[in-house]
Amino acid sequence: MSILTRRHLLRHAALSATAVTPAGAAIGTATAAGAAATLAGCQPGDTDRTAPETSPAGRLPFPQNFGWGAATSAYQIEGAVKEDGRGESVWDTFSHAPGRIRNGDTGDVAADHYHRYADDLDLMRDLGLRSYRFSISWPRIQPDGTGPANQRGLDFYRRLVDGLHERGISPMATLFHWDLPQALQNTGGWESRDVAQRFADYAAILFDALGDRVPVWLTINEPKTVVQNGYLSGHHAPGLRDPDAAYLVAHHLQLAHGLAVRALRDTSGAGRIGPAFNLHPCYPADDSPAAAEAARLYDGYENRLYLDSALKGSYPEDVLADLGPDSRMVRGIRDGDLEIISSPIDLLAVQYYTPIYVTANGGTVSRWPTSEAEWQQIYPDGMYDILTRVTRDYGPIPLTVTENGLPTPDVLAADGTVEDTGRVSFLRDHLAAAHRAVTDGVPLESFHVWSLLDNFEWAEGYDQRWGLIYVDYATQRRVLKRSAHWYRQVIADNAL
Ligand code: FCB
Repeated sequence: MSILTRRHLLRHAALSATAVTPAGAAIGTATAAGAAATLAGCQPGDTDRTAPETSPAGRLPFPQNFGWGAATSAYQIEGAVKEDGRGESVWDTFSHAPGRIRNGDTGDVAADHYHRYADDLDLMRDLGLRSYRFSISWPRIQPDGTGPANQRGLDFYRRLVDGLHERGISPMATLFHWDLPQALQNTGGWESRDVAQRFADYAAILFDALGDRVPVWLTINEPKTVVQNGYLSGHHAPGLRDPDAAYLVAHHLQLAHGLAVRALRDTSGAGRIGPAFNLHPCYPADDSPAAAEAARLYDGYENRLYLDSALKGSYPEDVLADLGPDSRMVRGIRDGDLEIISSPIDLLAVQYYTPIYVTANGGTVSRWPTSEAEWQQIYPDGMYDILTRVTRDYGPIPLTVTENGLPTPDVLAADGTVEDTGRVSFLRDHLAAAHRAVTDGVPLESFHVWSLLDNFEWAEGYDQRWGLIYVDYATQRRVLKRSAHWYRQVIADNAL
């Protein structure tokens, strides 16, 4: 295992350990003024602007029919984990294991969206959303991950999708947002190549059942997070710390993506399909050649591993060399796999939260204020850099931003308001950066705020609130935060 792989392990282990440090504790150790001037390992980039701190002067109009949206995922909002034949997922197991989740929280009830989805759909309509990105729970469709579909599970998503159409909102369905059926984990999980085929079978069930009414499918949400958090740091399900397994898992997740794309092409479904990658612009933390080189390899692990395989049909040579010929991943790549992984896609979903600054020895530092999620540095220009970089390096493939957002310490005031002004500034600055990318030719067609609702934030439980809509978990009452009112106006104006 290389130094970098070890550093990944340490970094992510550190992230989970620092889950209890106060927000802001990690602020800036790198100070070199020009450090971000080059998009390291990425490409020379337009990065030496300072992040806008106030709203841009004047109006910024978005393209006609821009897909203003919000995003959620099944385990984070649905609850109802034992209803209508749902099986168990790795997140049920993980969240119920002592000590894994802050405050011992679980997704058992979450935002109770399974029962309240019709009210939630009305809220989406009130906001004026044009697109809603949600995920389908695999164990609701196949309780054990294989075999015939559970009709009651399908019926729930059919009601949801029909309810969206009735309200003029376009459904965007993610097939996998981390809730692998536990039965498949028991037979090896993503370390087993067979799971990729099981995923394609599951996808085919959905294409048959909902293909006539879902216009956009996303295959796998953030394969990198499964790799890094599930198998390197272990602070997500299934909670392992095994770098050699981690990158084999990366390959199988990519393979599963490609097989699902092919499964869609094999059906009569007219929908479009693509992967959802969380991309992190990687910048050298100082001007040294060693930092530039380290940032380039970091970029390989963070971005090119996923982008190159899906869009170019090859894994990056530097990453493969770093992993070494004896690694389980390199040994696990079979003839034909990369053709499957690079099956033509219709759009690419980009999720942007934070940049990464890489030091000469392959470590990382923070340069910008962090949010309540201490891994997140607030840097709107990173949105511009990553969108323009993808277009520059991979061609004019249609892009959608499927996640961008901020956790803030939201409080429901006595007068019934939630003043999340920090979220408003964050979204305004990131949308302005996305707008700049569009102006410079990036084919961005939609933008989804993470998240529609406060929800179960994985290892952080319910402590972090990411929603446009406040959820009072004691009563399940929903309250539109200031950011929701602001976003409604942006949507109505189709302009910032
Ligand atoms: C992303 C996840 C999403 C949510 C946000 C904050 O990595 O896809 O489920 O946890 O982070």
